[in-house]
Amino acid sequence: MREPVVSFDGVCKSYPLYHHVRGIKHLLFNFPRNLKAMKSMQYEAIRGISFDVYRGEQFGIIGHNGAGKSTTLGLIAGVLKPTSGRVVVRGRISPLLSLGAGFHPDLSGRENVMLNGILMGLTRREILEKLDEILDFTELGEFIERPIRVYSSGMLARLGFSVVAHLDPEILLIDEVLGVGDIRFRQKCAKKIREFKRSGVTMVMVSHSVDGIARLCSRAMWIENHTMQMIGDAKEVVAAYQAANADEADASDPVNEDFAGVEL
Ligand SMILES: Nc1ncnc2c1ncn2[C@@H]1O[C@H](COP(=O)(O)OP(=O)(O)OP(=O)(O)O)[C@@H](O)[C@H]1O
Ligand SMILES: [Mg+2]
Repeated sequence: MREPVVSFDGVCKSYPLYHHVRGIKHLLFNFPRNLKAMKSMQYEAIRGISFDVYRGEQFGIIGHNGAGKSTTLGLIAGVLKPTSGRVVVRGRISPLLSLGAGFHPDLSGRENVMLNGILMGLTRREILEKLDEILDFTELGEFIERPIRVYSSGMLARLGFSVVAHLDPEILLIDEVLGVGDIRFRQKCAKKIREFKRSGVTMVMVSHSVDGIARLCSRAMWIENHTMQMIGDAKEVVAAYQAANADEADASDPVNEDFAGVEL
């Protein structure tokens, strides 16, 4: 029987809504009433979402900006707690691989690799053993010694993917990162992802590059207006999403070309 490594059961995540509070003065003068109102004003980022991700599968999440994709990944990673419902995760999760997450701007690329390794629970010795391989993979050259605040978003993505890819995760979470690298780095990432796929690493990835999701993932979920619109075979879900947006999307939409030339 297939074993679920991630299970969501009727999961809701709300964030407090602050915009209706008219300044700190207003808040203080009407304190108890405002506090009560603030607590009751919630914005639902995802609502009643249930799905399973099985061991060894590549699972994609697609949907419009603000639909709730990153919130879903944050709940899997454990950096967010559900407001209601249940999230169960079995296995060692990679830190949330999103742009710049877990990186310190004033430290160099090399120092950030060390820091991230330690945050992931590796010993100094284990990190040093892998350091050369990780640094080689980034291809950042002399930039590896510079503070990462001077990095471009593509350079940050290189650093982030290189760290996570070399630390043997059981469940790899990827939030819209691959699209930022240049074509050569995307090819390298794709190769690494194929290796992961072969060795049975479970992957949950969010991307606006829906063609990439269709190629890489076996199953996918489409989130629309904070709820699940469709779940199933990745190609079918992507086709339905594209059909629903056919009027708005131009066939040459650049966001769908992130994976152009990348054989996943
Ligand atoms: N920390 C937060 N506080 C308040 N609202 C938030 C917070 N994080 C996300 N939201 C809101 O929750 C909703 C879902 O956000 P989320 O980041 O999950 O979307 P997304 O699907 O990843 O979008 P994108 O494609 O733009 O990355 C959005 O409307 C967003 O404004
Ligand atoms: Mg997001």
